[in-house]
Amino acid sequence: MASTAASTLRQDAAFDEPRVERRAVSRSPTVAAERLPAPLLQVDGLTLEYATGVHVVRATHRVSFDLHRGDRLVLLGASGCGKSSLLKAIAGFIESREGEIRLDGRAVHGPGPDRIVVFQEFDQLPPWKTVVANVMFPLLAARLCGRREARERALDALAKVRLTEFADAYPHTLSGGMKQRVAIARALAMRPRVLLMDEPFAALDALTRRRMQEELLALWETLGFTLLFVTHSIEEALVVGNRIVVLSPRPGRVRAELNAHEFDLHGSGSAAFQAQAARIHRLLFEEAHETGDRR
Ligand SMILES: Nc1ncnc2c1ncn2[C@@H]1O[C@H](COP(=O)(O)OP(=O)(O)O)[C@@H](O)[C@H]1O
Ligand SMILES: [Mg+2]
Repeated sequence: MASTAASTLRQDAAFDEPRVERRAVSRSPTVAAERLPAPLLQVDGLTLEYATGVHVVRATHRVSFDLHRGDRLVLLGASGCGKSSLLKAIAGFIESREGEIRLDGRAVHGPGPDRIVVFQEFDQLPPWKTVVANVMFPLLAARLCGRREARERALDALAKVRLTEFADAYPHTLSGGMKQRVAIARALAMRPRVLLMDEPFAALDALTRRRMQEELLALWETLGFTLLFVTHSIEEALVVGNRIVVLSPRPGRVRAELNAHEFDLHGSGSAAFQAQAARIHRLLFEEAHETGDRR
């Protein structure tokens, strides 16, 4: 089943630099303790529930995965499978019913500047603040630095997303793609341990989405941050991620964990890309008992 696929794929991982040691990945605690750097973030048996008036909605059931420094891990699943709930729990906005989230080995129980979320909505920027003031705001609110340094960090982050000349503009004068670049700059200026992105490009037109994916990967190459990215698009998952956690719906469970490091924006037409996309499609849409070991 899914666990078979996951363990097989874990072994053929071919990561570059800080991830080289992970080729020896094993779930065995003794091997892990000897060879592996500890994961930056561990999601361990996470069950998330919402109590509505009458009944309880279980959003995820015992979801587990590890995020290592420098990873680009994608959570992929259909709408309603608990992706946003997982990000909200990791961001510390909601508590779990069962299981634990650990950052550097310490349990997460609330929001912090070490985990910043970029959302899908274009209205995540307060419209009465200029672009640069929007980027400075969380730095000041979290008291990470004074005004002068906040402005420097904000302008630096805006330069990285190529928006220097819009620093004094107001959000309503920007296109959707530009607003998302401001949201990314605002997150990067915080220098979080983990950058969390919840379908950040889903509301953009196809061409802009593609350009944003390209820019995100270029930023990752330059800055080397750790990314946890949520999407319902198989193609986006393959392009953005170096690993993909495939979630099944109602409640969300880990169906498989796959490698995607060999795919990029330019390979999306290749036979290997299409084969991996088809395989993920089967994992997402076929019943668990049907797939078995078939690959
Ligand atoms: N605030 C909430 N109250 C009740 N149910 C919720 C709430 N937020 C999400 N849910 C339910 O939890 C499940 C997972 O939702 P969500 O995490 O938003 O999924 P996704 O992001 O994958 O679309 C869905 O069944 C959804 O209806
Ligand atoms: Mg969602």
